Amino acid sequence: MAKEDLLMDQQKIIADFPILDRTIHDKPLVYLDNAATTLKPKSVADRIAQHYLLEASNIHRGVHTLSEEATKDYEASREKVRAFINANETAEIIFTSGTTESINLVSNTYGKSLKEGDEILITGMEHHSNIVPWQMLCEETGAVLKVVPLNEKGELIYSEFERLLTDKTKFLSVVYISNALGTINPVKKMIEAAHKLDVPVLIDAAQTVAHCPLDVQELDCEFMVFSGHKMFGPTGTGVLYGKKDYLEKLPPWKGGGDMILSVTFEKTIYNKLPARLEAGTPNIAGVIGLGAAIDYIESIGWETIEKIEEDLLAYGTEKLSAIDGLRLIGTADNKAGVLSFWMDDVHPHDIGTLVDQDGIAIRTGHHCAQPVMKHFNIPATARASFSIYNTREDFDRLAETIIKIKEMFS
Ligand code: ALA
Repeated sequence: MAKEDLLMDQQKIIADFPILDRTIHDKPLVYLDNAATTLKPKSVADRIAQHYLLEASNIHRGVHTLSEEATKDYEASREKVRAFINANETAEIIFTSGTTESINLVSNTYGKSLKEGDEILITGMEHHSNIVPWQMLCEETGAVLKVVPLNEKGELIYSEFERLLTDKTKFLSVVYISNALGTINPVKKMIEAAHKLDVPVLIDAAQTVAHCPLDVQELDCEFMVFSGHKMFGPTGTGVLYGKKDYLEKLPPWKGGGDMILSVTFEKTIYNKLPARLEAGTPNIAGVIGLGAAIDYIESIGWETIEKIEEDLLAYGTEKLSAIDGLRLIGTADNKAGVLSFWMDDVHPHDIGTLVDQDGIAIRTGHHCAQPVMKHFNIPATARASFSIYNTREDFDRLAETIIKIKEMFS
């Protein structure tokens, strides 16, 4: 794809996001906090508004036209998600409120089969949502949490993974792309290694889903989780993918409406998948909006998305590394989307506040990955994370502002 075509595509993409017309503190907004949440295109917001304004109704419960339409639209989103990640069937797609809930669903159902001494393996770069649910499970069951350590670039040490994966390992839960470092893990190879020991694998794809295509059949993972709001969709939506034979064996997690076939005071018969794992009225408008977000990603196409992001990663890395006194945190050979950094003279929170004065939104703090900060022996980082509507000029502005801040503090 020629550079000019890419730039033209990007002008169109930028026009899809009305928020990018805003000014913050009288400066044009530069949004570099996409790992926290992506912006939403007008098509997604319009689709959600359309549901609330013209179609609002509950699903799976009514025989009236509105309810039937809403049910059809909600289930159409399930089919869109299925196709998007190439799952085998729609029954393997469970809608949740986000990645965190999806992981908690697995730890509270599949996890309950673990016994004292069984080991759960994670890596040193997990988000808290892929640490704490397993710790809670370990406290309850006596299972043991094992952690694959990282090297100085923020990559997992593969030989340590191989050493820690043993016949005691009963579950592997691993992040595909680290939210704090941008490291891309060799998940395919890890899944293959785990399967040699019959260990099921959960992939946290929260930071992957808007950056590159996912194919659960090709990866062959047992579970995959992600959030709608990190893929141009609404907050409060998420997905748990599970292989059907695994989901079939999960006990129900939340009890309530829609997850039952019949209820008496003596006994409840549970519904089949996916309803069995979706108790109560779900986020109907959100799920329909998530379907619109998938339509949006598909209308752009992975080739364009990957080209834009590859260019931004190379350009942003060069621009930030050139700043004297700035240390990139996370320099994996294989990385995506995230440039975390530390400056000796300025605390990340000061950086965050001061760049905001120039209209630039980045995230500062531990990024819900405190063990990563501990590994690098720092309390926090400043993090610029980009997406398809970011440009080289965004990194020029960020770099200029950081240089100004550095001068102010020295
Ligand atoms: N997990 C999100 C982040 O990395 C909130 O910022």
